[in-house]
Amino acid sequence: MKKICVLGSINIDLVTKAIEFPIPGETIPGIEFNTFPGGKGANQAVAASKLGAEVIFLGKIGNDVFGEMALSALIEAKVDTRYIKKEDISTGVASITVNKSGQNSIICVPGANGMIDVAYVKANKKAIDDADILMLQLEIPIETVEWAAQYAFTNNKLVILDPAPARKLSKALLSNCSFITPNETELEIISEIKVLNVDSLESAKQALIQQGVSTIVHKCSSKGAYLLTKDDQLLIPGYKVEVVDTTAAGDSFNAGLAVSLAQGKGTEESIQFANAVGALSVTKIGAQSAMPTMSVVMEFIKKNN
Ligand code: RIB
Repeated sequence: MKKICVLGSINIDLVTKAIEFPIPGETIPGIEFNTFPGGKGANQAVAASKLGAEVIFLGKIGNDVFGEMALSALIEAKVDTRYIKKEDISTGVASITVNKSGQNSIICVPGANGMIDVAYVKANKKAIDDADILMLQLEIPIETVEWAAQYAFTNNKLVILDPAPARKLSKALLSNCSFITPNETELEIISEIKVLNVDSLESAKQALIQQGVSTIVHKCSSKGAYLLTKDDQLLIPGYKVEVVDTTAAGDSFNAGLAVSLAQGKGTEESIQFANAVGALSVTKIGAQSAMPTMSVVMEFIKKNN
């Protein structure tokens, strides 16, 4: 299997379960509170490693107990953490509320993630050199993502960008990605087109293709995911499961996609596999704690196809 490098955020997630989200000015009772390792980068790394890939991580923790907790989780998941640097600042923290339907709302304080600068990645670019696939998300400074994508893409690596949290992206970054994997909100923000039907989806796709993206994998939760290329608009159906917590569904989807591509599988098959990984991850509470192993995913696909 090909090797994966993940460059991205490490957080500790402070997760409160409540019946509904509070409205501004309101205090409501919560049902349950948990502290989980999270962060989009770390989640993707743990998920890919749990699926059996060799994963090396580029990122930073802070000088606090949360940093140690997050690092332990990565080590426990057998992610190669040798390049992770500790900064004299707090570790990234995500304050998450999950409602009774499993939807979430998240406030992220970047802490050490905000210090992942281009100089750090340049100094540790061997991690990218040694990998075949680079996974990126947007919880670290954008100029770092841009530099890493360009470096990896020009060195013939497969670059998978999860454009989350959503923001407008430069043409340069888009043209240095082999795959981008937006959900609906992200697709609308990146393309600046409201996606309401297959026609507007086609317009959003064309807008991104004109900016140099070659393959868009548009995540649509339980509906599945669209494979959008210059000539194609293909829905690969998802799986219906009982939702407990949607946190990190996108991260597990991306990990599934990367691992399947790392195994040499085709894009459509890889999206189907990613749909299954994403579906399984929402059946449990938490981010990394909810990521399935390869045998669990294979069993699930066998039962549900
Ligand atoms: O994608 C889910 C992640 O987003 C959470 O683990 C949280 O840390 C936020 O970064």
